[in-house]
Amino acid sequence: MTMTDIALCATNVSMLYETQRGRQVTALETVSLEVRRGEFVSLIGPSGCGKSTLLYILGGLRGQTSGEVALLGQRMTGPVPTKVGFVFQDYTLFPWRTILANIEVGLEFRGVGKRERRERAEANLDLVGLSAFAQAYPGELSGGMQQRVAIARALAMDPEILLMDEPFGALDEQTRTVLGEELARILEQAGKTIVFVTHSLTEAVFLSDRVVVMSGRPGRIKEILTVDEPRPRKPGFAMSAEFTDTRNRLFDLLHDEMRAATLAELGAGRQNGGRRGEA
Ligand SMILES: Nc1ncnc2c1ncn2[C@@H]1O[C@H](COP(=O)(O)OP(=O)(O)O)[C@@H](O)[C@H]1O
Ligand SMILES: [Mg+2]
Repeated sequence: MTMTDIALCATNVSMLYETQRGRQVTALETVSLEVRRGEFVSLIGPSGCGKSTLLYILGGLRGQTSGEVALLGQRMTGPVPTKVGFVFQDYTLFPWRTILANIEVGLEFRGVGKRERRERAEANLDLVGLSAFAQAYPGELSGGMQQRVAIARALAMDPEILLMDEPFGALDEQTRTVLGEELARILEQAGKTIVFVTHSLTEAVFLSDRVVVMSGRPGRIKEILTVDEPRPRKPGFAMSAEFTDTRNRLFDLLHDEMRAATLAELGAGRQNGGRRGEA
């Protein structure tokens, strides 16, 4: 395997935050992870275990306290928008711009000409199945549709790597299942490398080549599960024995972590007179 087969490589990454009251929080402790080109990797773990932090560090949006991150074999020193795109949980569309104009935003910013911009926006809107809404405004679309627009917007920039932070977190179970299947199809077509934060075990197993299970604070990698089913996955995969087995293993791995993290949060809340515990 050559260096360029690796899209992202984190080596012994640790992250220390200082809270406003001057306390230090270890969000990540010596996390090492390699993501191969074209691979779909999910991050899953209790709330506050550092999933978003790791994603921001992998995308160069935040600097780690120690350790190294390499993007396509090069040391990461900051965001590289031509190579790495983001999709966040809230759709962050501009309400006063049409859907098509929303998808064009990043391209505009990058100085891509009007005609090419329009073509790329239309092609990606088509990919997410929303061509009919090109001239609509975000407020006229459902949450699931807006999130598909956000995905189209990220894909229009044509990054090789897409980092997604609970992109379907705000959606209901039915919508996220359908979007998950859609995402599997879209990404297979686009041939991207994906790091995907989720709290849904089903989503993680359905979409991923590997699922990275993180432990509660300080965030570490507890285990990595491999899902051997070829992609893109058919809806029937969710009914198979392999799927159920993997999902159960994931549940077992997470259960203790979730329990510990929840109890710690409740305990901290009580000490603060019932207010939500400070990290
Ligand atoms: N900017 C920040 N300043 C201080 N602490 C932070 C900051 N961002 C995150 N944290 C803390 O770091 C830990 C990990 O946070 P985060 O990466 O958001 O976890 P997750 O995405 O897994 O829920 C949490 O304890 C959180 O409170
Ligand atoms: Mg998060």
